[in-house]
Amino acid sequence: MISKDKLTWMVMCFVVVGAFSWLWEAARDSMAQDRAPVKPREKANPAIDETKKKGFDGVDFSYDVFGAPPGQDPEENARKVMSKDLAEKPKVLERQKKLLNDRYHLDCRTASGVTMTKGKPQPIGPTAHLKDGITWDKLGQMEAEDIKSKKVFPAGFDRLPHVKHEVGGMVFPQIQIKQFPRLDRVDVEFDLPDCFLPEFPPPIFLTTHPELGDVSQGEVVSADNFDRILRGLVTSVQLDGLRLLVTQFPQEEFNATHDRKSLKPSLGVACLDCHVNFHSTGQFHLNPDTRPQRDRMRLDTVSLRGMFNQQIHGSKRSLRSVEDFTEFEQRTAYFNGDQIRAIKKGVNVIDRLLVPHMAQMQNMIDFPPAAKLDPMTGRLNRKKASPQEMQGEDLFFGKARCVACHQPPAYTDHQMHDLQLERFGAHADGPMKSFVLRGIKDSPPYFHDGRLLTLEDAVEFFNIVSELRLNKDEKAALVAFLRAL
Ligand code: HEC
Ligand code: HEC
Repeated sequence: MISKDKLTWMVMCFVVVGAFSWLWEAARDSMAQDRAPVKPREKANPAIDETKKKGFDGVDFSYDVFGAPPGQDPEENARKVMSKDLAEKPKVLERQKKLLNDRYHLDCRTASGVTMTKGKPQPIGPTAHLKDGITWDKLGQMEAEDIKSKKVFPAGFDRLPHVKHEVGGMVFPQIQIKQFPRLDRVDVEFDLPDCFLPEFPPPIFLTTHPELGDVSQGEVVSADNFDRILRGLVTSVQLDGLRLLVTQFPQEEFNATHDRKSLKPSLGVACLDCHVNFHSTGQFHLNPDTRPQRDRMRLDTVSLRGMFNQQIHGSKRSLRSVEDFTEFEQRTAYFNGDQIRAIKKGVNVIDRLLVPHMAQMQNMIDFPPAAKLDPMTGRLNRKKASPQEMQGEDLFFGKARCVACHQPPAYTDHQMHDLQLERFGAHADGPMKSFVLRGIKDSPPYFHDGRLLTLEDAVEFFNIVSELRLNKDEKAALVAFLRAL
């Protein structure tokens, strides 16, 4: 039996709760009425809907290809994904090999005396294939609209995709995997021939010790040896920064969870696994900034040489400090711009007190020596340079207009520029950082995605894109100048 008192009490409660919820609804309605009504789309742009819908090659793609479907054991699923990856690998590599052969002559041309800093021969081009009936001279004379309508822009000058673009992630060259087997992946392998990569290991030059030359002494700086190699040459803050730069931290493809692309669980990837000896040996991944997956850009690892003198960082990000980029790499780039996966796989959030240690170390790295450049102007020393190099310099600062975006001493203008390749029927990349050209002979392949395999390709590229109408001798001179930087 419910007593009368209790009943009154319950009725009161209902009344009070009811009143409150009525008030709440009313308040919400009035707030909603304050907002402007949602305007329907006046003109739908079907291209936008199409772009979002098509992840990759017309297939609806979400990055989470190896997540377990609901109700399925994730580890079991991961094992299935891994065996599938392994089984499909030969086909994936074959597809990329065909793509590269369709774009480039991949035979390795070199010339005696034309080397990188430590003596590896520089690859000589141009390597990009031309369409039937076209020569470099003909192409150089054509107008943009003509190149576009006749579809003769070289495929090798358009975007270079990742080996397995639908998955992406970090990929390391075989020469490095030989020394560090932990960097091997089950699903992909590095695609470009060794000829078109920087020397391994690259030399290290300290701004504080130019008289010592290469302080790496031919070793790859890693967690095993950094203390032995650099203690006594750098400050303790810098050495601590270096410790963090060679420490492996979890990342999308290399981590200790079942959901990874390395055969064995991995502690992750170190900054200097990609920026080997503060330079690069062609390691690549996809940029975290762009969606859908198909439109993400392959990014060829940039050198960290001479960063002390650069005002913006990243080809798209334009971050204003080395500290910010350092933090961005681990929090964002390591996980493809997906913070949920970062939490799942164990993102290492570097203490903001330690980020400057890492930056201080990175800021001590110099460009390789350039014997022919005048220290006061960053331009050629007339007594040391050859007539061909001098001609190249004149073109660079004159007719070829390279100086508009590449100014000494680092040969950058610290700006982003949109080359608008869509004018020629290629993919639109939007604004990109003017990369530095100091020490450029050490850094093939060229451009953010490594699409240009040689300096000859880079000059042919700008000859078309800037409509320069250079002749054969002028192009050769320009390349000779770039090699002297
Ligand atoms: C895939 C291998 C890879 C790893 C690992 C990696 N980076 Fe990078 N790094 C890149 C690439 C690629 C770029 C160029 C990014 C771009 O063009 O937007 C870059 C750019 C940078 C830059 C900017 C250079 C400039 O001036 O534009 C800095 C600084 C940097 N990385 C630091 C780090 C640090 C610190 C770590 C470790 C937390 C790290 N990187 C780990 C590949 C890597
Ligand atoms: C309008 C500005 C602009 C002009 C003019 C220009 N460049 Fe560049 N340069 C860039 C940008 C932007 C990039 C990066 C493009 C990318 O990665 O997509 C670049 C990249 C390069 C690279 C590759 C650098 C690397 O590290 O991969 C080379 C080499 C180069 N330029 C040489 C030249 C030469 C030679 C000329 C003159 C014939 C020239 N550039 C004219 C803006 C310019």
